Amino acid sequence: MTPAALITGWGYYVPPKVLTNADLEAMVQTSDAWIYERTGIRERHIVEGDEVTSGMATKAAKEALGRAKVKGEDLDAIIIATTSPDYFLPTAACLVQESLGARKAAVFDLGAACAGFVYGLAIARGLVASGAARKILLVGAETISRFIDWTDRATCVLFGDGAGAVVIEASAAGAGIQSTALHGDGRQKRHLRLEGGGALHPAARRGDDGASDFIQMNGPEVFKLAVPAMADAAKEALAQAGLRLEDVDLFVPHQANARIIEAVAKRLGLDRSKVFIDIDRFGNTSAASIPIALCDAVAQGRVRKGDTLVFAAFGGGMTWGAAVVEWSSPKR
Ligand code: UT7
Repeated sequence: MTPAALITGWGYYVPPKVLTNADLEAMVQTSDAWIYERTGIRERHIVEGDEVTSGMATKAAKEALGRAKVKGEDLDAIIIATTSPDYFLPTAACLVQESLGARKAAVFDLGAACAGFVYGLAIARGLVASGAARKILLVGAETISRFIDWTDRATCVLFGDGAGAVVIEASAAGAGIQSTALHGDGRQKRHLRLEGGGALHPAARRGDDGASDFIQMNGPEVFKLAVPAMADAAKEALAQAGLRLEDVDLFVPHQANARIIEAVAKRLGLDRSKVFIDIDRFGNTSAASIPIALCDAVAQGRVRKGDTLVFAAFGGGMTWGAAVVEWSSPKR
């Protein structure tokens, strides 16, 4: 029988430094009222010094491994969903592997922007189903603040740094990750980009080549694309799992904008009580946002054993997707 892929541990970490909307008012022409009304964000956490993606990922991972009672050395795979790794090489996954002493783990970074965590759930489920791995660490971790133009008010008010991790284990019983729906559309790539530093515009050859080292986003276009895409992916994943919208106990979407989340929930006909939003405290942490929100939801007692959770995300590329997970109880 195909083993189920259960989430047995979870944990998150955000750097201590908090950047409030009031702080941003002193940096660019903006206001707390504009930011909160247009995005739902009050504050976000930002890295300082040398603590970037792999360090935050390691801290989140240790919490998740502790909950799952899994040792680093027992991991078969480490997947880090990120658009902001410490380096191109070594990957963030290699750095996390070293910190955890996860000697036998296969290790790789996953680049699917804000949809990276949902993509990672699909890959982890596949590795478990094929028998290739029984214990997997999946982390969404981002240091987007290092790729922000802090004079561009259209982007600098939106993002935050952080990491969220889950441990996924093969099990003969339980449902776990029930289905995933993944999509992409490179034709829309111009609306959200980070071009500088890649092979076309490598740092060593940079003159005035027109490429930017910062995230550039056409927010309204991304907004319009995100709402139907996330709603449709959620419906698709639910249909694949043989479930209906009425079966959803909690919708835990990517936290890019509270208005996007509310519009998606409206399209799905989901009551606000079934929608989890914590963007006010973290901003948009890209691939880290869903696992951070999941940890937050569990800590707030919003998730119970047997609950049907739906995750949905949309991000640069464009990439998007959704996943349906039946929540299992921790091993404690
Ligand atoms: O996670 C990856 C995917 N990313 C997303 O999903 C983000 C999607 N987009 C969004 O969340 C929204 O489009 C934004 C929050 C980025 C922008 O909200 P909006 O309601 O689409 O505003 P807008 O870009 O249409 O701007 C409205 C006005 C403009 O002024 P005018 O042209 O009407 O005079 C902007 O210049 O607000 C102005 N504006 C600001 N004003 C104060 C833009 N940014 C700011 C700001 N503070 N920070």
